Amino acid sequence: MRLKGKVALVTGGSRGIGQAIAIGFAKEGAAVVVDYIGKPDIADATVSKIKSLGGSVVAVHADVSDSAQVANLIAESVNAFGKLDIVVNNAGIETKHDFVDFPLDEVRKIVDVNLIGPLMVAQAAARQMMKQGRGGRIINISSVHEELPMPTNAPYCASKGGLRMLTRTIAVELAKHNITVNNIGPGAIYTAIDADIQARPELEKLLMAEIPLNRWGQPAEVAGLALYLASDEAAYVTGSTYFIDGGMLRQAGSY
Ligand code: BGC
Repeated sequence: MRLKGKVALVTGGSRGIGQAIAIGFAKEGAAVVVDYIGKPDIADATVSKIKSLGGSVVAVHADVSDSAQVANLIAESVNAFGKLDIVVNNAGIETKHDFVDFPLDEVRKIVDVNLIGPLMVAQAAARQMMKQGRGGRIINISSVHEELPMPTNAPYCASKGGLRMLTRTIAVELAKHNITVNNIGPGAIYTAIDADIQARPELEKLLMAEIPLNRWGQPAEVAGLALYLASDEAAYVTGSTYFIDGGMLRQAGSY
């Protein structure tokens, strides 16, 4: 039990990578707050899975791009379990258009959810952790695209590039409080965010050709890295991004 006695909040914890992290943390003894948006039953599967494992869990509805809802999310987490030790900023969105045609309202939404959201959650969580005085962990789910350009995905890439420097900067600022801040940079992980690619075998083939290990990653594989960063073993790890991408960032680009 690597997270016994810890309280962890996972944004976007009802599905995909967030769900795998919420379940993975609960298996290691953490009490988990599953943040979700949409209908109340969206988080049911994650909540029942964690309960069936004997874990402690609550689901809280909050849109991370709304400051009042973020404040409420942190308050509800502390209400439920008395404290907050680990935050995983996982919630994220992506839509694709040619840059010159990208609608500004979509640009703003992407940056709000993927960058301003994690900033607000980290800020509120850090205040809570400082009050507790026992340090803490902030883990941001970024992307290979905090480094790798992706045509038709400019706002997403910009938001993840922003997350890269947010992490580096606040890791330095929060170190004196023993709060570590790290990014995970997943590559192509098999989740609904890539439903468009999964539905088109010719696109999927092109994507796989960019990955030296030649396969999708699984959410549980990302959860394993998040678990390490959340655990006591990672106490000296802060301010960096850890990629989990099947070698995508190192591909030779031979086609
Ligand atoms: C994106 C996916 C993409 C993957 C690899 C992720 O950050 O959300 O759409 O397939 O990176 O390029």
